[in-house]
Amino acid sequence: MLSILLLPLLAILALAAPLESRAPKYNVTSMNEALKRGSGILGSYSKCSGSLCSWMSKVSDTTKITDMSIPGTHDTASWDYTLLKQLSYLKYTNIIYPSALYRCGTQSIFAQLAAGNRAFDLRVGFAPNGKDLVFFHSEALLDINARFEDVIQGFYRFLEENPTESLLISVKDENATWGTTQALQQSLYTTLTSSVAQSYVNPSTSISSTALSAVRGKMTILRRFALDQLSSSQQSLGIDLTNGWSDNNADFSLTTPSGDKVFIEDLYEPKADKIGLTPNVNLKLNATTTHISASSSKSKGDGLYITFASSEQAYQLLFPQVMAQGLIVPGVNQGLKKWLTTGQGKGLKKKGIVFTDFASETSGLVEAIIA
Ligand SMILES: *[C@@H]1O[C@H](CO)[C@@H](O)[C@H](O)[C@H]1NC(C)=O
Ligand SMILES: *[C@@H]1O[C@H](CO)[C@@H](O)[C@H](O)[C@H]1NC(C)=O
Ligand SMILES: *[C@@H]1O[C@H](CO)[C@@H](O)[C@H](O)[C@H]1NC(C)=O
Repeated sequence: MLSILLLPLLAILALAAPLESRAPKYNVTSMNEALKRGSGILGSYSKCSGSLCSWMSKVSDTTKITDMSIPGTHDTASWDYTLLKQLSYLKYTNIIYPSALYRCGTQSIFAQLAAGNRAFDLRVGFAPNGKDLVFFHSEALLDINARFEDVIQGFYRFLEENPTESLLISVKDENATWGTTQALQQSLYTTLTSSVAQSYVNPSTSISSTALSAVRGKMTILRRFALDQLSSSQQSLGIDLTNGWSDNNADFSLTTPSGDKVFIEDLYEPKADKIGLTPNVNLKLNATTTHISASSSKSKGDGLYITFASSEQAYQLLFPQVMAQGLIVPGVNQGLKKWLTTGQGKGLKKKGIVFTDFASETSGLVEAIIA
């Protein structure tokens, strides 16, 4: 009797087994090479573990991506830009601002993913060899070894292992000093449309009606680089944010060629006539919470809302870390967490994408954005 009951079960298990051990959609050899070479930006690989690795599994399939609350990291690749690293690249960059002005976090990309972040802000340019695409924050060369395609492979690895999740990858051309703009466009286009990319990159150029189910296990490119120097068949890729981005603006919008409305808060250097940390933090915090509220109520319209909680005020030595974490007095992150957990932001849904600096230093901030 027992064996009669067990037989169908065994048959199911036998059928299921090959699925469990199915080959990944990427080339294992080149994945291992990429994770090794990319470790200066990706961090060392370990499979995502912890309760936030699959937080999107609790979001219903039919939810529109633009109706979600998605935490992200601003200037994602700058997390290990220490003074030591800066000094070791002095021969390429000459004297630039102190490393602290460029550094926007402390967690590796794999750790950022494990902490629940799903939006990433990548800024690329040519390495001094004029060939490899690597990461920059303005004139700061962040790592000489980790290539753009390596870091993208790291995201593929995460998606392969966490197929309920969806990523938003902003890619900006930051520095073409050691190459041409055309070569930079070509390199980005080639990486993001390769045969392996076709398994993981959302092919749509529009996001405003995309349901989560359509992009689980995939990344959507928020494109902050032009393709105008490529052939006409290569001029579309991802969500095109190249027209209308307004520099250091607390509240602007743009419409993509596909008709998506995108509402953005990117006041990275509060135009404070006031001196000191608290006045600058208050300005930035107001811009941030005002925009998150607008996202939640869709008061500007339906579309993709992007809020940067990150900022600096260089001439007052208010580096990103100081603005985010504060110094004796609270910074933007503590204020934002308080607003989200006990203030007017409590219980808000549809916060949009919220990019932070140093979120890992304020425990519970990422969770408060997701909530
Ligand atoms: C996988 O990548 C390696 C290294 O880049 C390459 O030599 C090999 O031919 C690739 N294998 C397949 C099946 O494409
Ligand atoms: C790119 O980086 C190099 C090296 O630091 C620097 O000399 C150049 O001014 C940078 N270009 C831009 C546009 O930031
Ligand atoms: C808060 O931000 C909004 C939107 O940027 C602005 O209209 C308002 O004047 C700001 N309030 C304060 C007190 O700064």
